[in-house]
Amino acid sequence: MLKLAVLVSGGGTNLQAIIDAIDSGSITNAGISVVISNNPNAYALERAKKHGITALCISPKQFESREAFNQAFLEQLNACQVDLVVLAGFLVVLPEQMIKEYRNRIINIHPSLIPSFCGKGFYGLKVHEAALARGVKLTGATVHFVDEGTDTGPIILQKAVEVAPDDTPETLQRRVMEQAEWVIMPKAIDLIANGKVSVTDGRVRIEEGRNSES
Ligand code: GRF
Repeated sequence: MLKLAVLVSGGGTNLQAIIDAIDSGSITNAGISVVISNNPNAYALERAKKHGITALCISPKQFESREAFNQAFLEQLNACQVDLVVLAGFLVVLPEQMIKEYRNRIINIHPSLIPSFCGKGFYGLKVHEAALARGVKLTGATVHFVDEGTDTGPIILQKAVEVAPDDTPETLQRRVMEQAEWVIMPKAIDLIANGKVSVTDGRVRIEEGRNSES
């Protein structure tokens, strides 16, 4: 059984998609051990509590320095003894030490088809604003392992979403979540939980039979 920590900062719709997929059996061999937020007001914490999942808040604001926060955060995470860390809208830069210690054990969801509209400054609505400004006809979402860069880690799954002529950043964001993020994040977790994902030379290989979108 793969033990998950889900890290959140906001509404937690991706967390909800994971909870629902575990409940419905579309994710197997995995359970959420803990939800951690940097934001005490994140609705994601309520979603966790409603499902009887341990919900913690640890914020850089509680510490005198970034180093002190990084150390406390990593200690807290290590104490939870999880196998996989899932970033589901977590807006805090991860401690470098954590990336080292959890190599290929941290995944993130990004709301575009990487390498488009990603990297520093591309988060939240800004991603969708940039996609609309460029006039792309297709966008989507990407689940990837986290490395030291911003959105540069090995790509696990991607799903494309059509852009509508009258889209606003908000309508596009919503469609990307519904059609892509809430689909590929649970799917990536299920693949990892069932031993179907391996990383070689910075590229992900998914075992035959489980790598097509459905
Ligand atoms: C999502 O759009 C995700 O791609 C991004 O942050 C947002 C989180 O939304 N990284 P939610 O908190 O899961 O509703």
